[in-house]
Amino acid sequence: MPIKILMVCLGNICRSPLAEGILQSKLPRDKFIVDSAGTGNWHVGRQPDSRSIAIAKLKGLDISKQKGRQFTTKDFETNDYIFVMDNSNYKDVIQLAPNQEAKSKVSLILNDLFPNENVDVPDPYYGMEDGFSNVYGMLDEVCEIIAEKLIAKHS
Ligand code: 4NP
Repeated sequence: MPIKILMVCLGNICRSPLAEGILQSKLPRDKFIVDSAGTGNWHVGRQPDSRSIAIAKLKGLDISKQKGRQFTTKDFETNDYIFVMDNSNYKDVIQLAPNQEAKSKVSLILNDLFPNENVDVPDPYYGMEDGFSNVYGMLDEVCEIIAEKLIAKHS
């Protein structure tokens, strides 16, 4: 059974689709499946934001086939690791957790880069184009660390 990793943000159109694409590109697909979801439901069924698709394409990743979906409590069962993009997502996801085991799967993604600092991946939705390349850079850096850890732990 492959290890399942879920990336979570608010809309599932800007940050978590990038996190999904970036981490999956650093992991063998037969051993690790990366997915993403949003805590909100506004963009269910939609493609990622065109600005996320564009920055990913520039870096050689195609995230255009992803479809937005909402996080559900079932995700605590189906996933081994749940990475959230910011403190607000963390609060929303933890509130849905049925037990301690579920809670223990959830972590703020940038804590793998800045341990215990609880730094947010900023929401680029209402900002400028460069917000997306900034987010891409952060996610690429932290996903490199996460991929190394996952491969070391599960091989
Ligand atoms: P994301 O960005 O959480 O990184 O996907 C957002 C996209 C849309 C909205 C909020 C955040 N929205 O309110 O529609």
